[in-house]
Amino acid sequence: MTEYNQINVEHKTPKGVVGVFKNNTGEFIEGLQMDEGMGGLTKHSKESLENEKKIMLEILSDKDPRNDVILAVYENKIIGYITMVKSNFNEQWAKLKDDSVVELGFIEVSRNWRNLGIATRMLEATFKDGRYENNIAYSTEYSWHWDMEYNKLNKSEYHDMLLKIFKKAGFEQYDTDDPDINVDWANMLTVRIGGDVDIERNRKFILSLRKDSWKYGL
Ligand SMILES: CC(C)(COP(=O)(O)OP(=O)(O)OC[C@H]1O[C@@H](n2cnc3c(N)ncnc32)[C@H](O)[C@@H]1OP(=O)(O)O)[C@@H](O)C(=O)NCCC(=O)NCCS
Repeated sequence: MTEYNQINVEHKTPKGVVGVFKNNTGEFIEGLQMDEGMGGLTKHSKESLENEKKIMLEILSDKDPRNDVILAVYENKIIGYITMVKSNFNEQWAKLKDDSVVELGFIEVSRNWRNLGIATRMLEATFKDGRYENNIAYSTEYSWHWDMEYNKLNKSEYHDMLLKIFKKAGFEQYDTDDPDINVDWANMLTVRIGGDVDIERNRKFILSLRKDSWKYGL
């Protein structure tokens, strides 16, 4: 099993210096608290903060080399995170069984810390050390997860905001006929093909995004 050394990048904001950590361990997360503005994964319900931490710990307890939880931390509090998880869902491209495919599962910044470049910096940190250069990373963006009211953005603006921050990290929007993506025009699939991914893996992944390709054997 590959071990990765924890990396800490400082991100200066008008509210203070935030630490962005990657290659994290469960022990590190156990020692941190969740900021009160977190909890978006379960719509800021009462149990949200505890649930989010539990999910992070579960991801890190699975020692798959693709798994990581990238954190933004301020004074011992988690104020943002990104989950990177082995692709194990039911999307059609998961059928490829390509071990290099990794899902950027969720990205969140605390409601108390938005628009300070923290998501951008976490995304940059996720990919900067080359850990995912031999991977195909994808992210499914579903509008029902978006905090439109709080961010005061309409659906189209929110879509554009997400695409902008993902593009800065090397993602591009890809067409797919995946039914969940196509249920809402604002949903999107974004993909980042690592620099060391060979053409054949790249080709197969792109083909796998459409059902017709499966019909004809990719
Ligand atoms: C999406 C989210 C992670 C962004 O976090 P963030 O730290 O506020 O993002 P950043 O500050 O790095 O970047 C926001 C960008 O949007 C831009 N932006 C803000 N309002 C905007 C608007 N009305 N129109 C267009 N762009 C806008 C900002 O200017 C910034 O871009 P810039 O760096 O080029 O100036 C945060 O809003 C969040 O946690 N939302 C809830 C969870 C969620 O929606 N997750 C994504 C789906 S999985």
